[in-house]
Amino acid sequence: MLIDVHCHLTGEEYVTVGGMEEVIDRAKREGVTRMICSGFDVESSLQAKVLSETYEEIYFCAGFHPGELGHYREGDLKELRKLCRHEKCVAVGEIGLDYHFEDNPEPKLQRELFVRQLELANEEGLPVVLHSRDAAQETLEILKENASLLKKGGLMHCYSYSPEMTADFLGLGLSFSFGGPSTFKNAKKVVESVRHIPAHRLLSETDCPYLTPTPFRGVFPNEPKNVRYVVENFATIRNENEEELKNVLLENAKRLFFKLR
Ligand code: NI
Repeated sequence: MLIDVHCHLTGEEYVTVGGMEEVIDRAKREGVTRMICSGFDVESSLQAKVLSETYEEIYFCAGFHPGELGHYREGDLKELRKLCRHEKCVAVGEIGLDYHFEDNPEPKLQRELFVRQLELANEEGLPVVLHSRDAAQETLEILKENASLLKKGGLMHCYSYSPEMTADFLGLGLSFSFGGPSTFKNAKKVVESVRHIPAHRLLSETDCPYLTPTPFRGVFPNEPKNVRYVVENFATIRNENEEELKNVLLENAKRLFFKLR
């Protein structure tokens, strides 16, 4: 049994590949029986909720992605809070900082909403799923300042910073997930991180529809079924037994996302 702890299944691209029914069928044929569909604003979080009500295999996260804050409205946090109380909402996410593109939302707004969503997770007793791009130091600072809000833990999703920095995030009690990039030939840093993270803090994801893992790199859309290749590659990198590793990854997911059944 495999789990994709971070995917985006609410996009139109899946209509062209047979719809959600077939995406889930293909995933199950590869042993992927649980998928956590991540919201990135209120609308997508609501859509993820609907998917979770339609398909047993799908759970979801509710949150506002830092890159999407351009259309943030006062009142959105109230909507997210309602979603947090849904039986299949396993975390607040994805939230964090993203300074990659020049026209990304103002850093000040990103920081404010990051902290307010950490507070939301703490108040609702949920873990957080963190997105951080080109903002390593600031992400770490904010998390350290707000460590008391991380009582239910959190996940550095698609971790791409230095292997050395994993120690700082581990110190905050956080876990790490990796997807397609960990299978890419030139991904030295990421591979190094995958190798050294303690087994009980490692999780598997696809972050689909993008970043399809090897051997299907470049194929669009990526799908949860491909998490199989991510996990096979983890086993190779870490020189661990694949079946045992699968069990550990599943236990890790159930521990962090405690509403998962
Ligand atoms: Ni994502």
